[in-house]
Parts: sequence; structure tokens; C-alpha cells
Amino acid sequence: MTRSIPVALGGRSYDVIVGPGLIDRAGEHIAPLLKSKRTAIVTDSNVGEHHGERLSVSLERAGVAVDVITVPAGEESKSFEGLASLSDQLLDLQLDRGDVIVAFGGGVVGDLAGFAAAIYKRGIDFIQVPTSLLAQVDSSVGGKTAIDTPRGKNLIGAFHQPRLVLADLDVLATLPAREMACGYAEVIKYGMLGDEAFFAWLEAHGAAVLAGDIDALTHAVGRSVEMKAEIVAEDEKEQGRRALLNLGHTFGHALEAETGYGETLKHGEAVAAGCGLAFRFSAALGLCDPAEADRVERALTAAGLPAGMADVPGHPFSADRLIHHMGQDKKSEGGALTFILARRIGEAFTAKGVDPDALRRFLIEQGAKP
Ligand code: GLY
Repeated sequence: MTRSIPVALGGRSYDVIVGPGLIDRAGEHIAPLLKSKRTAIVTDSNVGEHHGERLSVSLERAGVAVDVITVPAGEESKSFEGLASLSDQLLDLQLDRGDVIVAFGGGVVGDLAGFAAAIYKRGIDFIQVPTSLLAQVDSSVGGKTAIDTPRGKNLIGAFHQPRLVLADLDVLATLPAREMACGYAEVIKYGMLGDEAFFAWLEAHGAAVLAGDIDALTHAVGRSVEMKAEIVAEDEKEQGRRALLNLGHTFGHALEAETGYGETLKHGEAVAAGCGLAFRFSAALGLCDPAEADRVERALTAAGLPAGMADVPGHPFSADRLIHHMGQDKKSEGGALTFILARRIGEAFTAKGVDPDALRRFLIEQGAKP
């Protein structure tokens, strides 16, 4: 079954299509959106290895000319150097404003190609064909594009909405189990932040989602995208409710910074541990029943994800260093700490001006070094 989920943004509205077999049918979805019949696919070497030329073939069958730019796989491509190299290649192709970039890959390719599209000749259309679960449920939807700098991740970027997102569930079959679990962390996050019934469904069906069952994935990806689409339509530029999508990210980013943003702790794992900590911290502040934090922890552990600091390699971390990283968070304003906390599963909220002493006490209670 294929689902089409609209992201309602006036003249910049678009659909996220979720289902199996979409790459081979990409041409018929993409061709009607094109002003010129010319695209540049931006992808990486890993994607090429698994999916070969199927996307190009499908586009060409629909009468669309295709050039393919392959960037090195890995976060390093999301840099000023990577952006310069990609921009030069787009210029060499003499792509013009009526042409379209197709980002075919995981979050790195989507963020980089999307940002290049945002600034190339002051803006060109782009389409997302995400190939990781994490990109399908989060980064390909909502128009956040960015590169990293040595000073931090995603600090240079732009909001630039895609014209279409094609989330082909079949591509997830080639994802390593650890990558699936990372995407699942973002899926279950939607239940935690705004839909208890979805969370309960995941408690029952999470194993099927992780095993790649197409019906389970259709529901899990579909519901995640639906929630993100609704939030983005209401608050595109993150002035309010969109910040709820950062549940688990303040703790998570601090743990990623301490573990070096790499294989030790992947982003999805950091988000999972961060969500566990956000519920635990909410309970410690008397905002939420500790039984809710227990339930979150059980659901994350069942998916093979870390649910707190003790599950993260490198534990125990220094409380001061963690707090320092949290102060660098894009959400913090004028040095005040902002967290997404929860009253219960399905009800997250933004808490500004969190007491640093209470945070420090909490981190030490959780096993951080004083
Ligand atoms: N990944 C969070 C957002 O798109 O707002």
C-alpha cells in the first residue's frame, strides 16, 4: 500500500509518498513536477552499491535527462569543502534554475544536496529520495538543510522545502540492523512527544518494524511523517511547536559531543538515550510520573537502543562537560538552558530556563562524574 501525506505550506506545499517500489516508479512521480526535463541526482557511493542505477533508469524512462554526482559517503561530506565541491560540479553541469536536484541517500546526502539546492543560483528546486529510516521519518521532511563546521553540527544551513519526498520502504531491507534501530529511535520519539496510542502500537509492533515488515513499516513511517508534516505546517521555521521534534536532542547532542560524533554513539542512539534521560529528568523535576520514564526505558531497551547514560560507551561522563555542551545547543538563548520535557508519554513541552543546579544534581544521580 502506498500513502501520500501532504505537507501544507501554501505555495510550497508538497507530498511525502510512503510505500514499497517507489524508486522504480520515481519517474512517473517526478516528471510531472519538472519545468525542464533535466535533473542532477546527488548520491553517495554506498547508495550506488545497493541501488545501482534504478533511480536514473526510472527517470530516463519517463523522459527525464539525468546526471549523477556521487559524493563520498560519510558525515565529512557535510562540510564547506563538500559543499564547494558539489556546487562546482553542479555549475560544471550548467544546471539552471528550471532544473531539479534529486537527493538520493541518507541524511548526509539530503542535508548537503538540499543546502546546495537552497543556494545554487539563489535557489533551485529539489526532491528527496531518502534511503535510511532516519531520513525517511525525519530529515527528508520539513526543509531543514545544513552543513557542519568544526564549531558544531548543522550550524550553517537554510530552510528549503523539497518539492516531493519519495520514501521507498523496500530500500530499508539493505540497511544494517543498527541503522534501522537508529531510525526507530526517531519513530518512537513521535509517540513519546505527541501520540501515546502510536507509542503503544510500537510497544506491540516495534519488532516487526525493525524486522522490515512492510505493513508495519507503512504504518510506522506513515504515522511519523504525518506527525512531522502537521507540526511543520504549523511552525515551519521552529518558532514554537516544531521544537518538540527535538525531544531527547539536548541530552543526545551532549553525549554525541562527548563520544566524538561517530561510530561509538550514532545520532539515533544518542536521541534514544536522550529521550530516556528527558523522561527521567521530567520525573526528577516532579513533572511526570516515574512510571512513564520506566515505560520509555523498556520500549527503548526492547529495540536494542540505549535508554540512558549508563548504556552509552564512555560512561561515566563529566557532568560539567555535558552541561557545557548543552549550553552550545541551538535552542539555548542567552545562556539559559532549554529542554523538551514531558508530562506523560504523548505530551512533551518546551521548558525554558531550566535550573542548572537541578540539571547537575540529576546528571550526578544518573551516574555522571561531579
Ligand atoms: N529534525 C527536527 C526538525 O526537522 O525539526
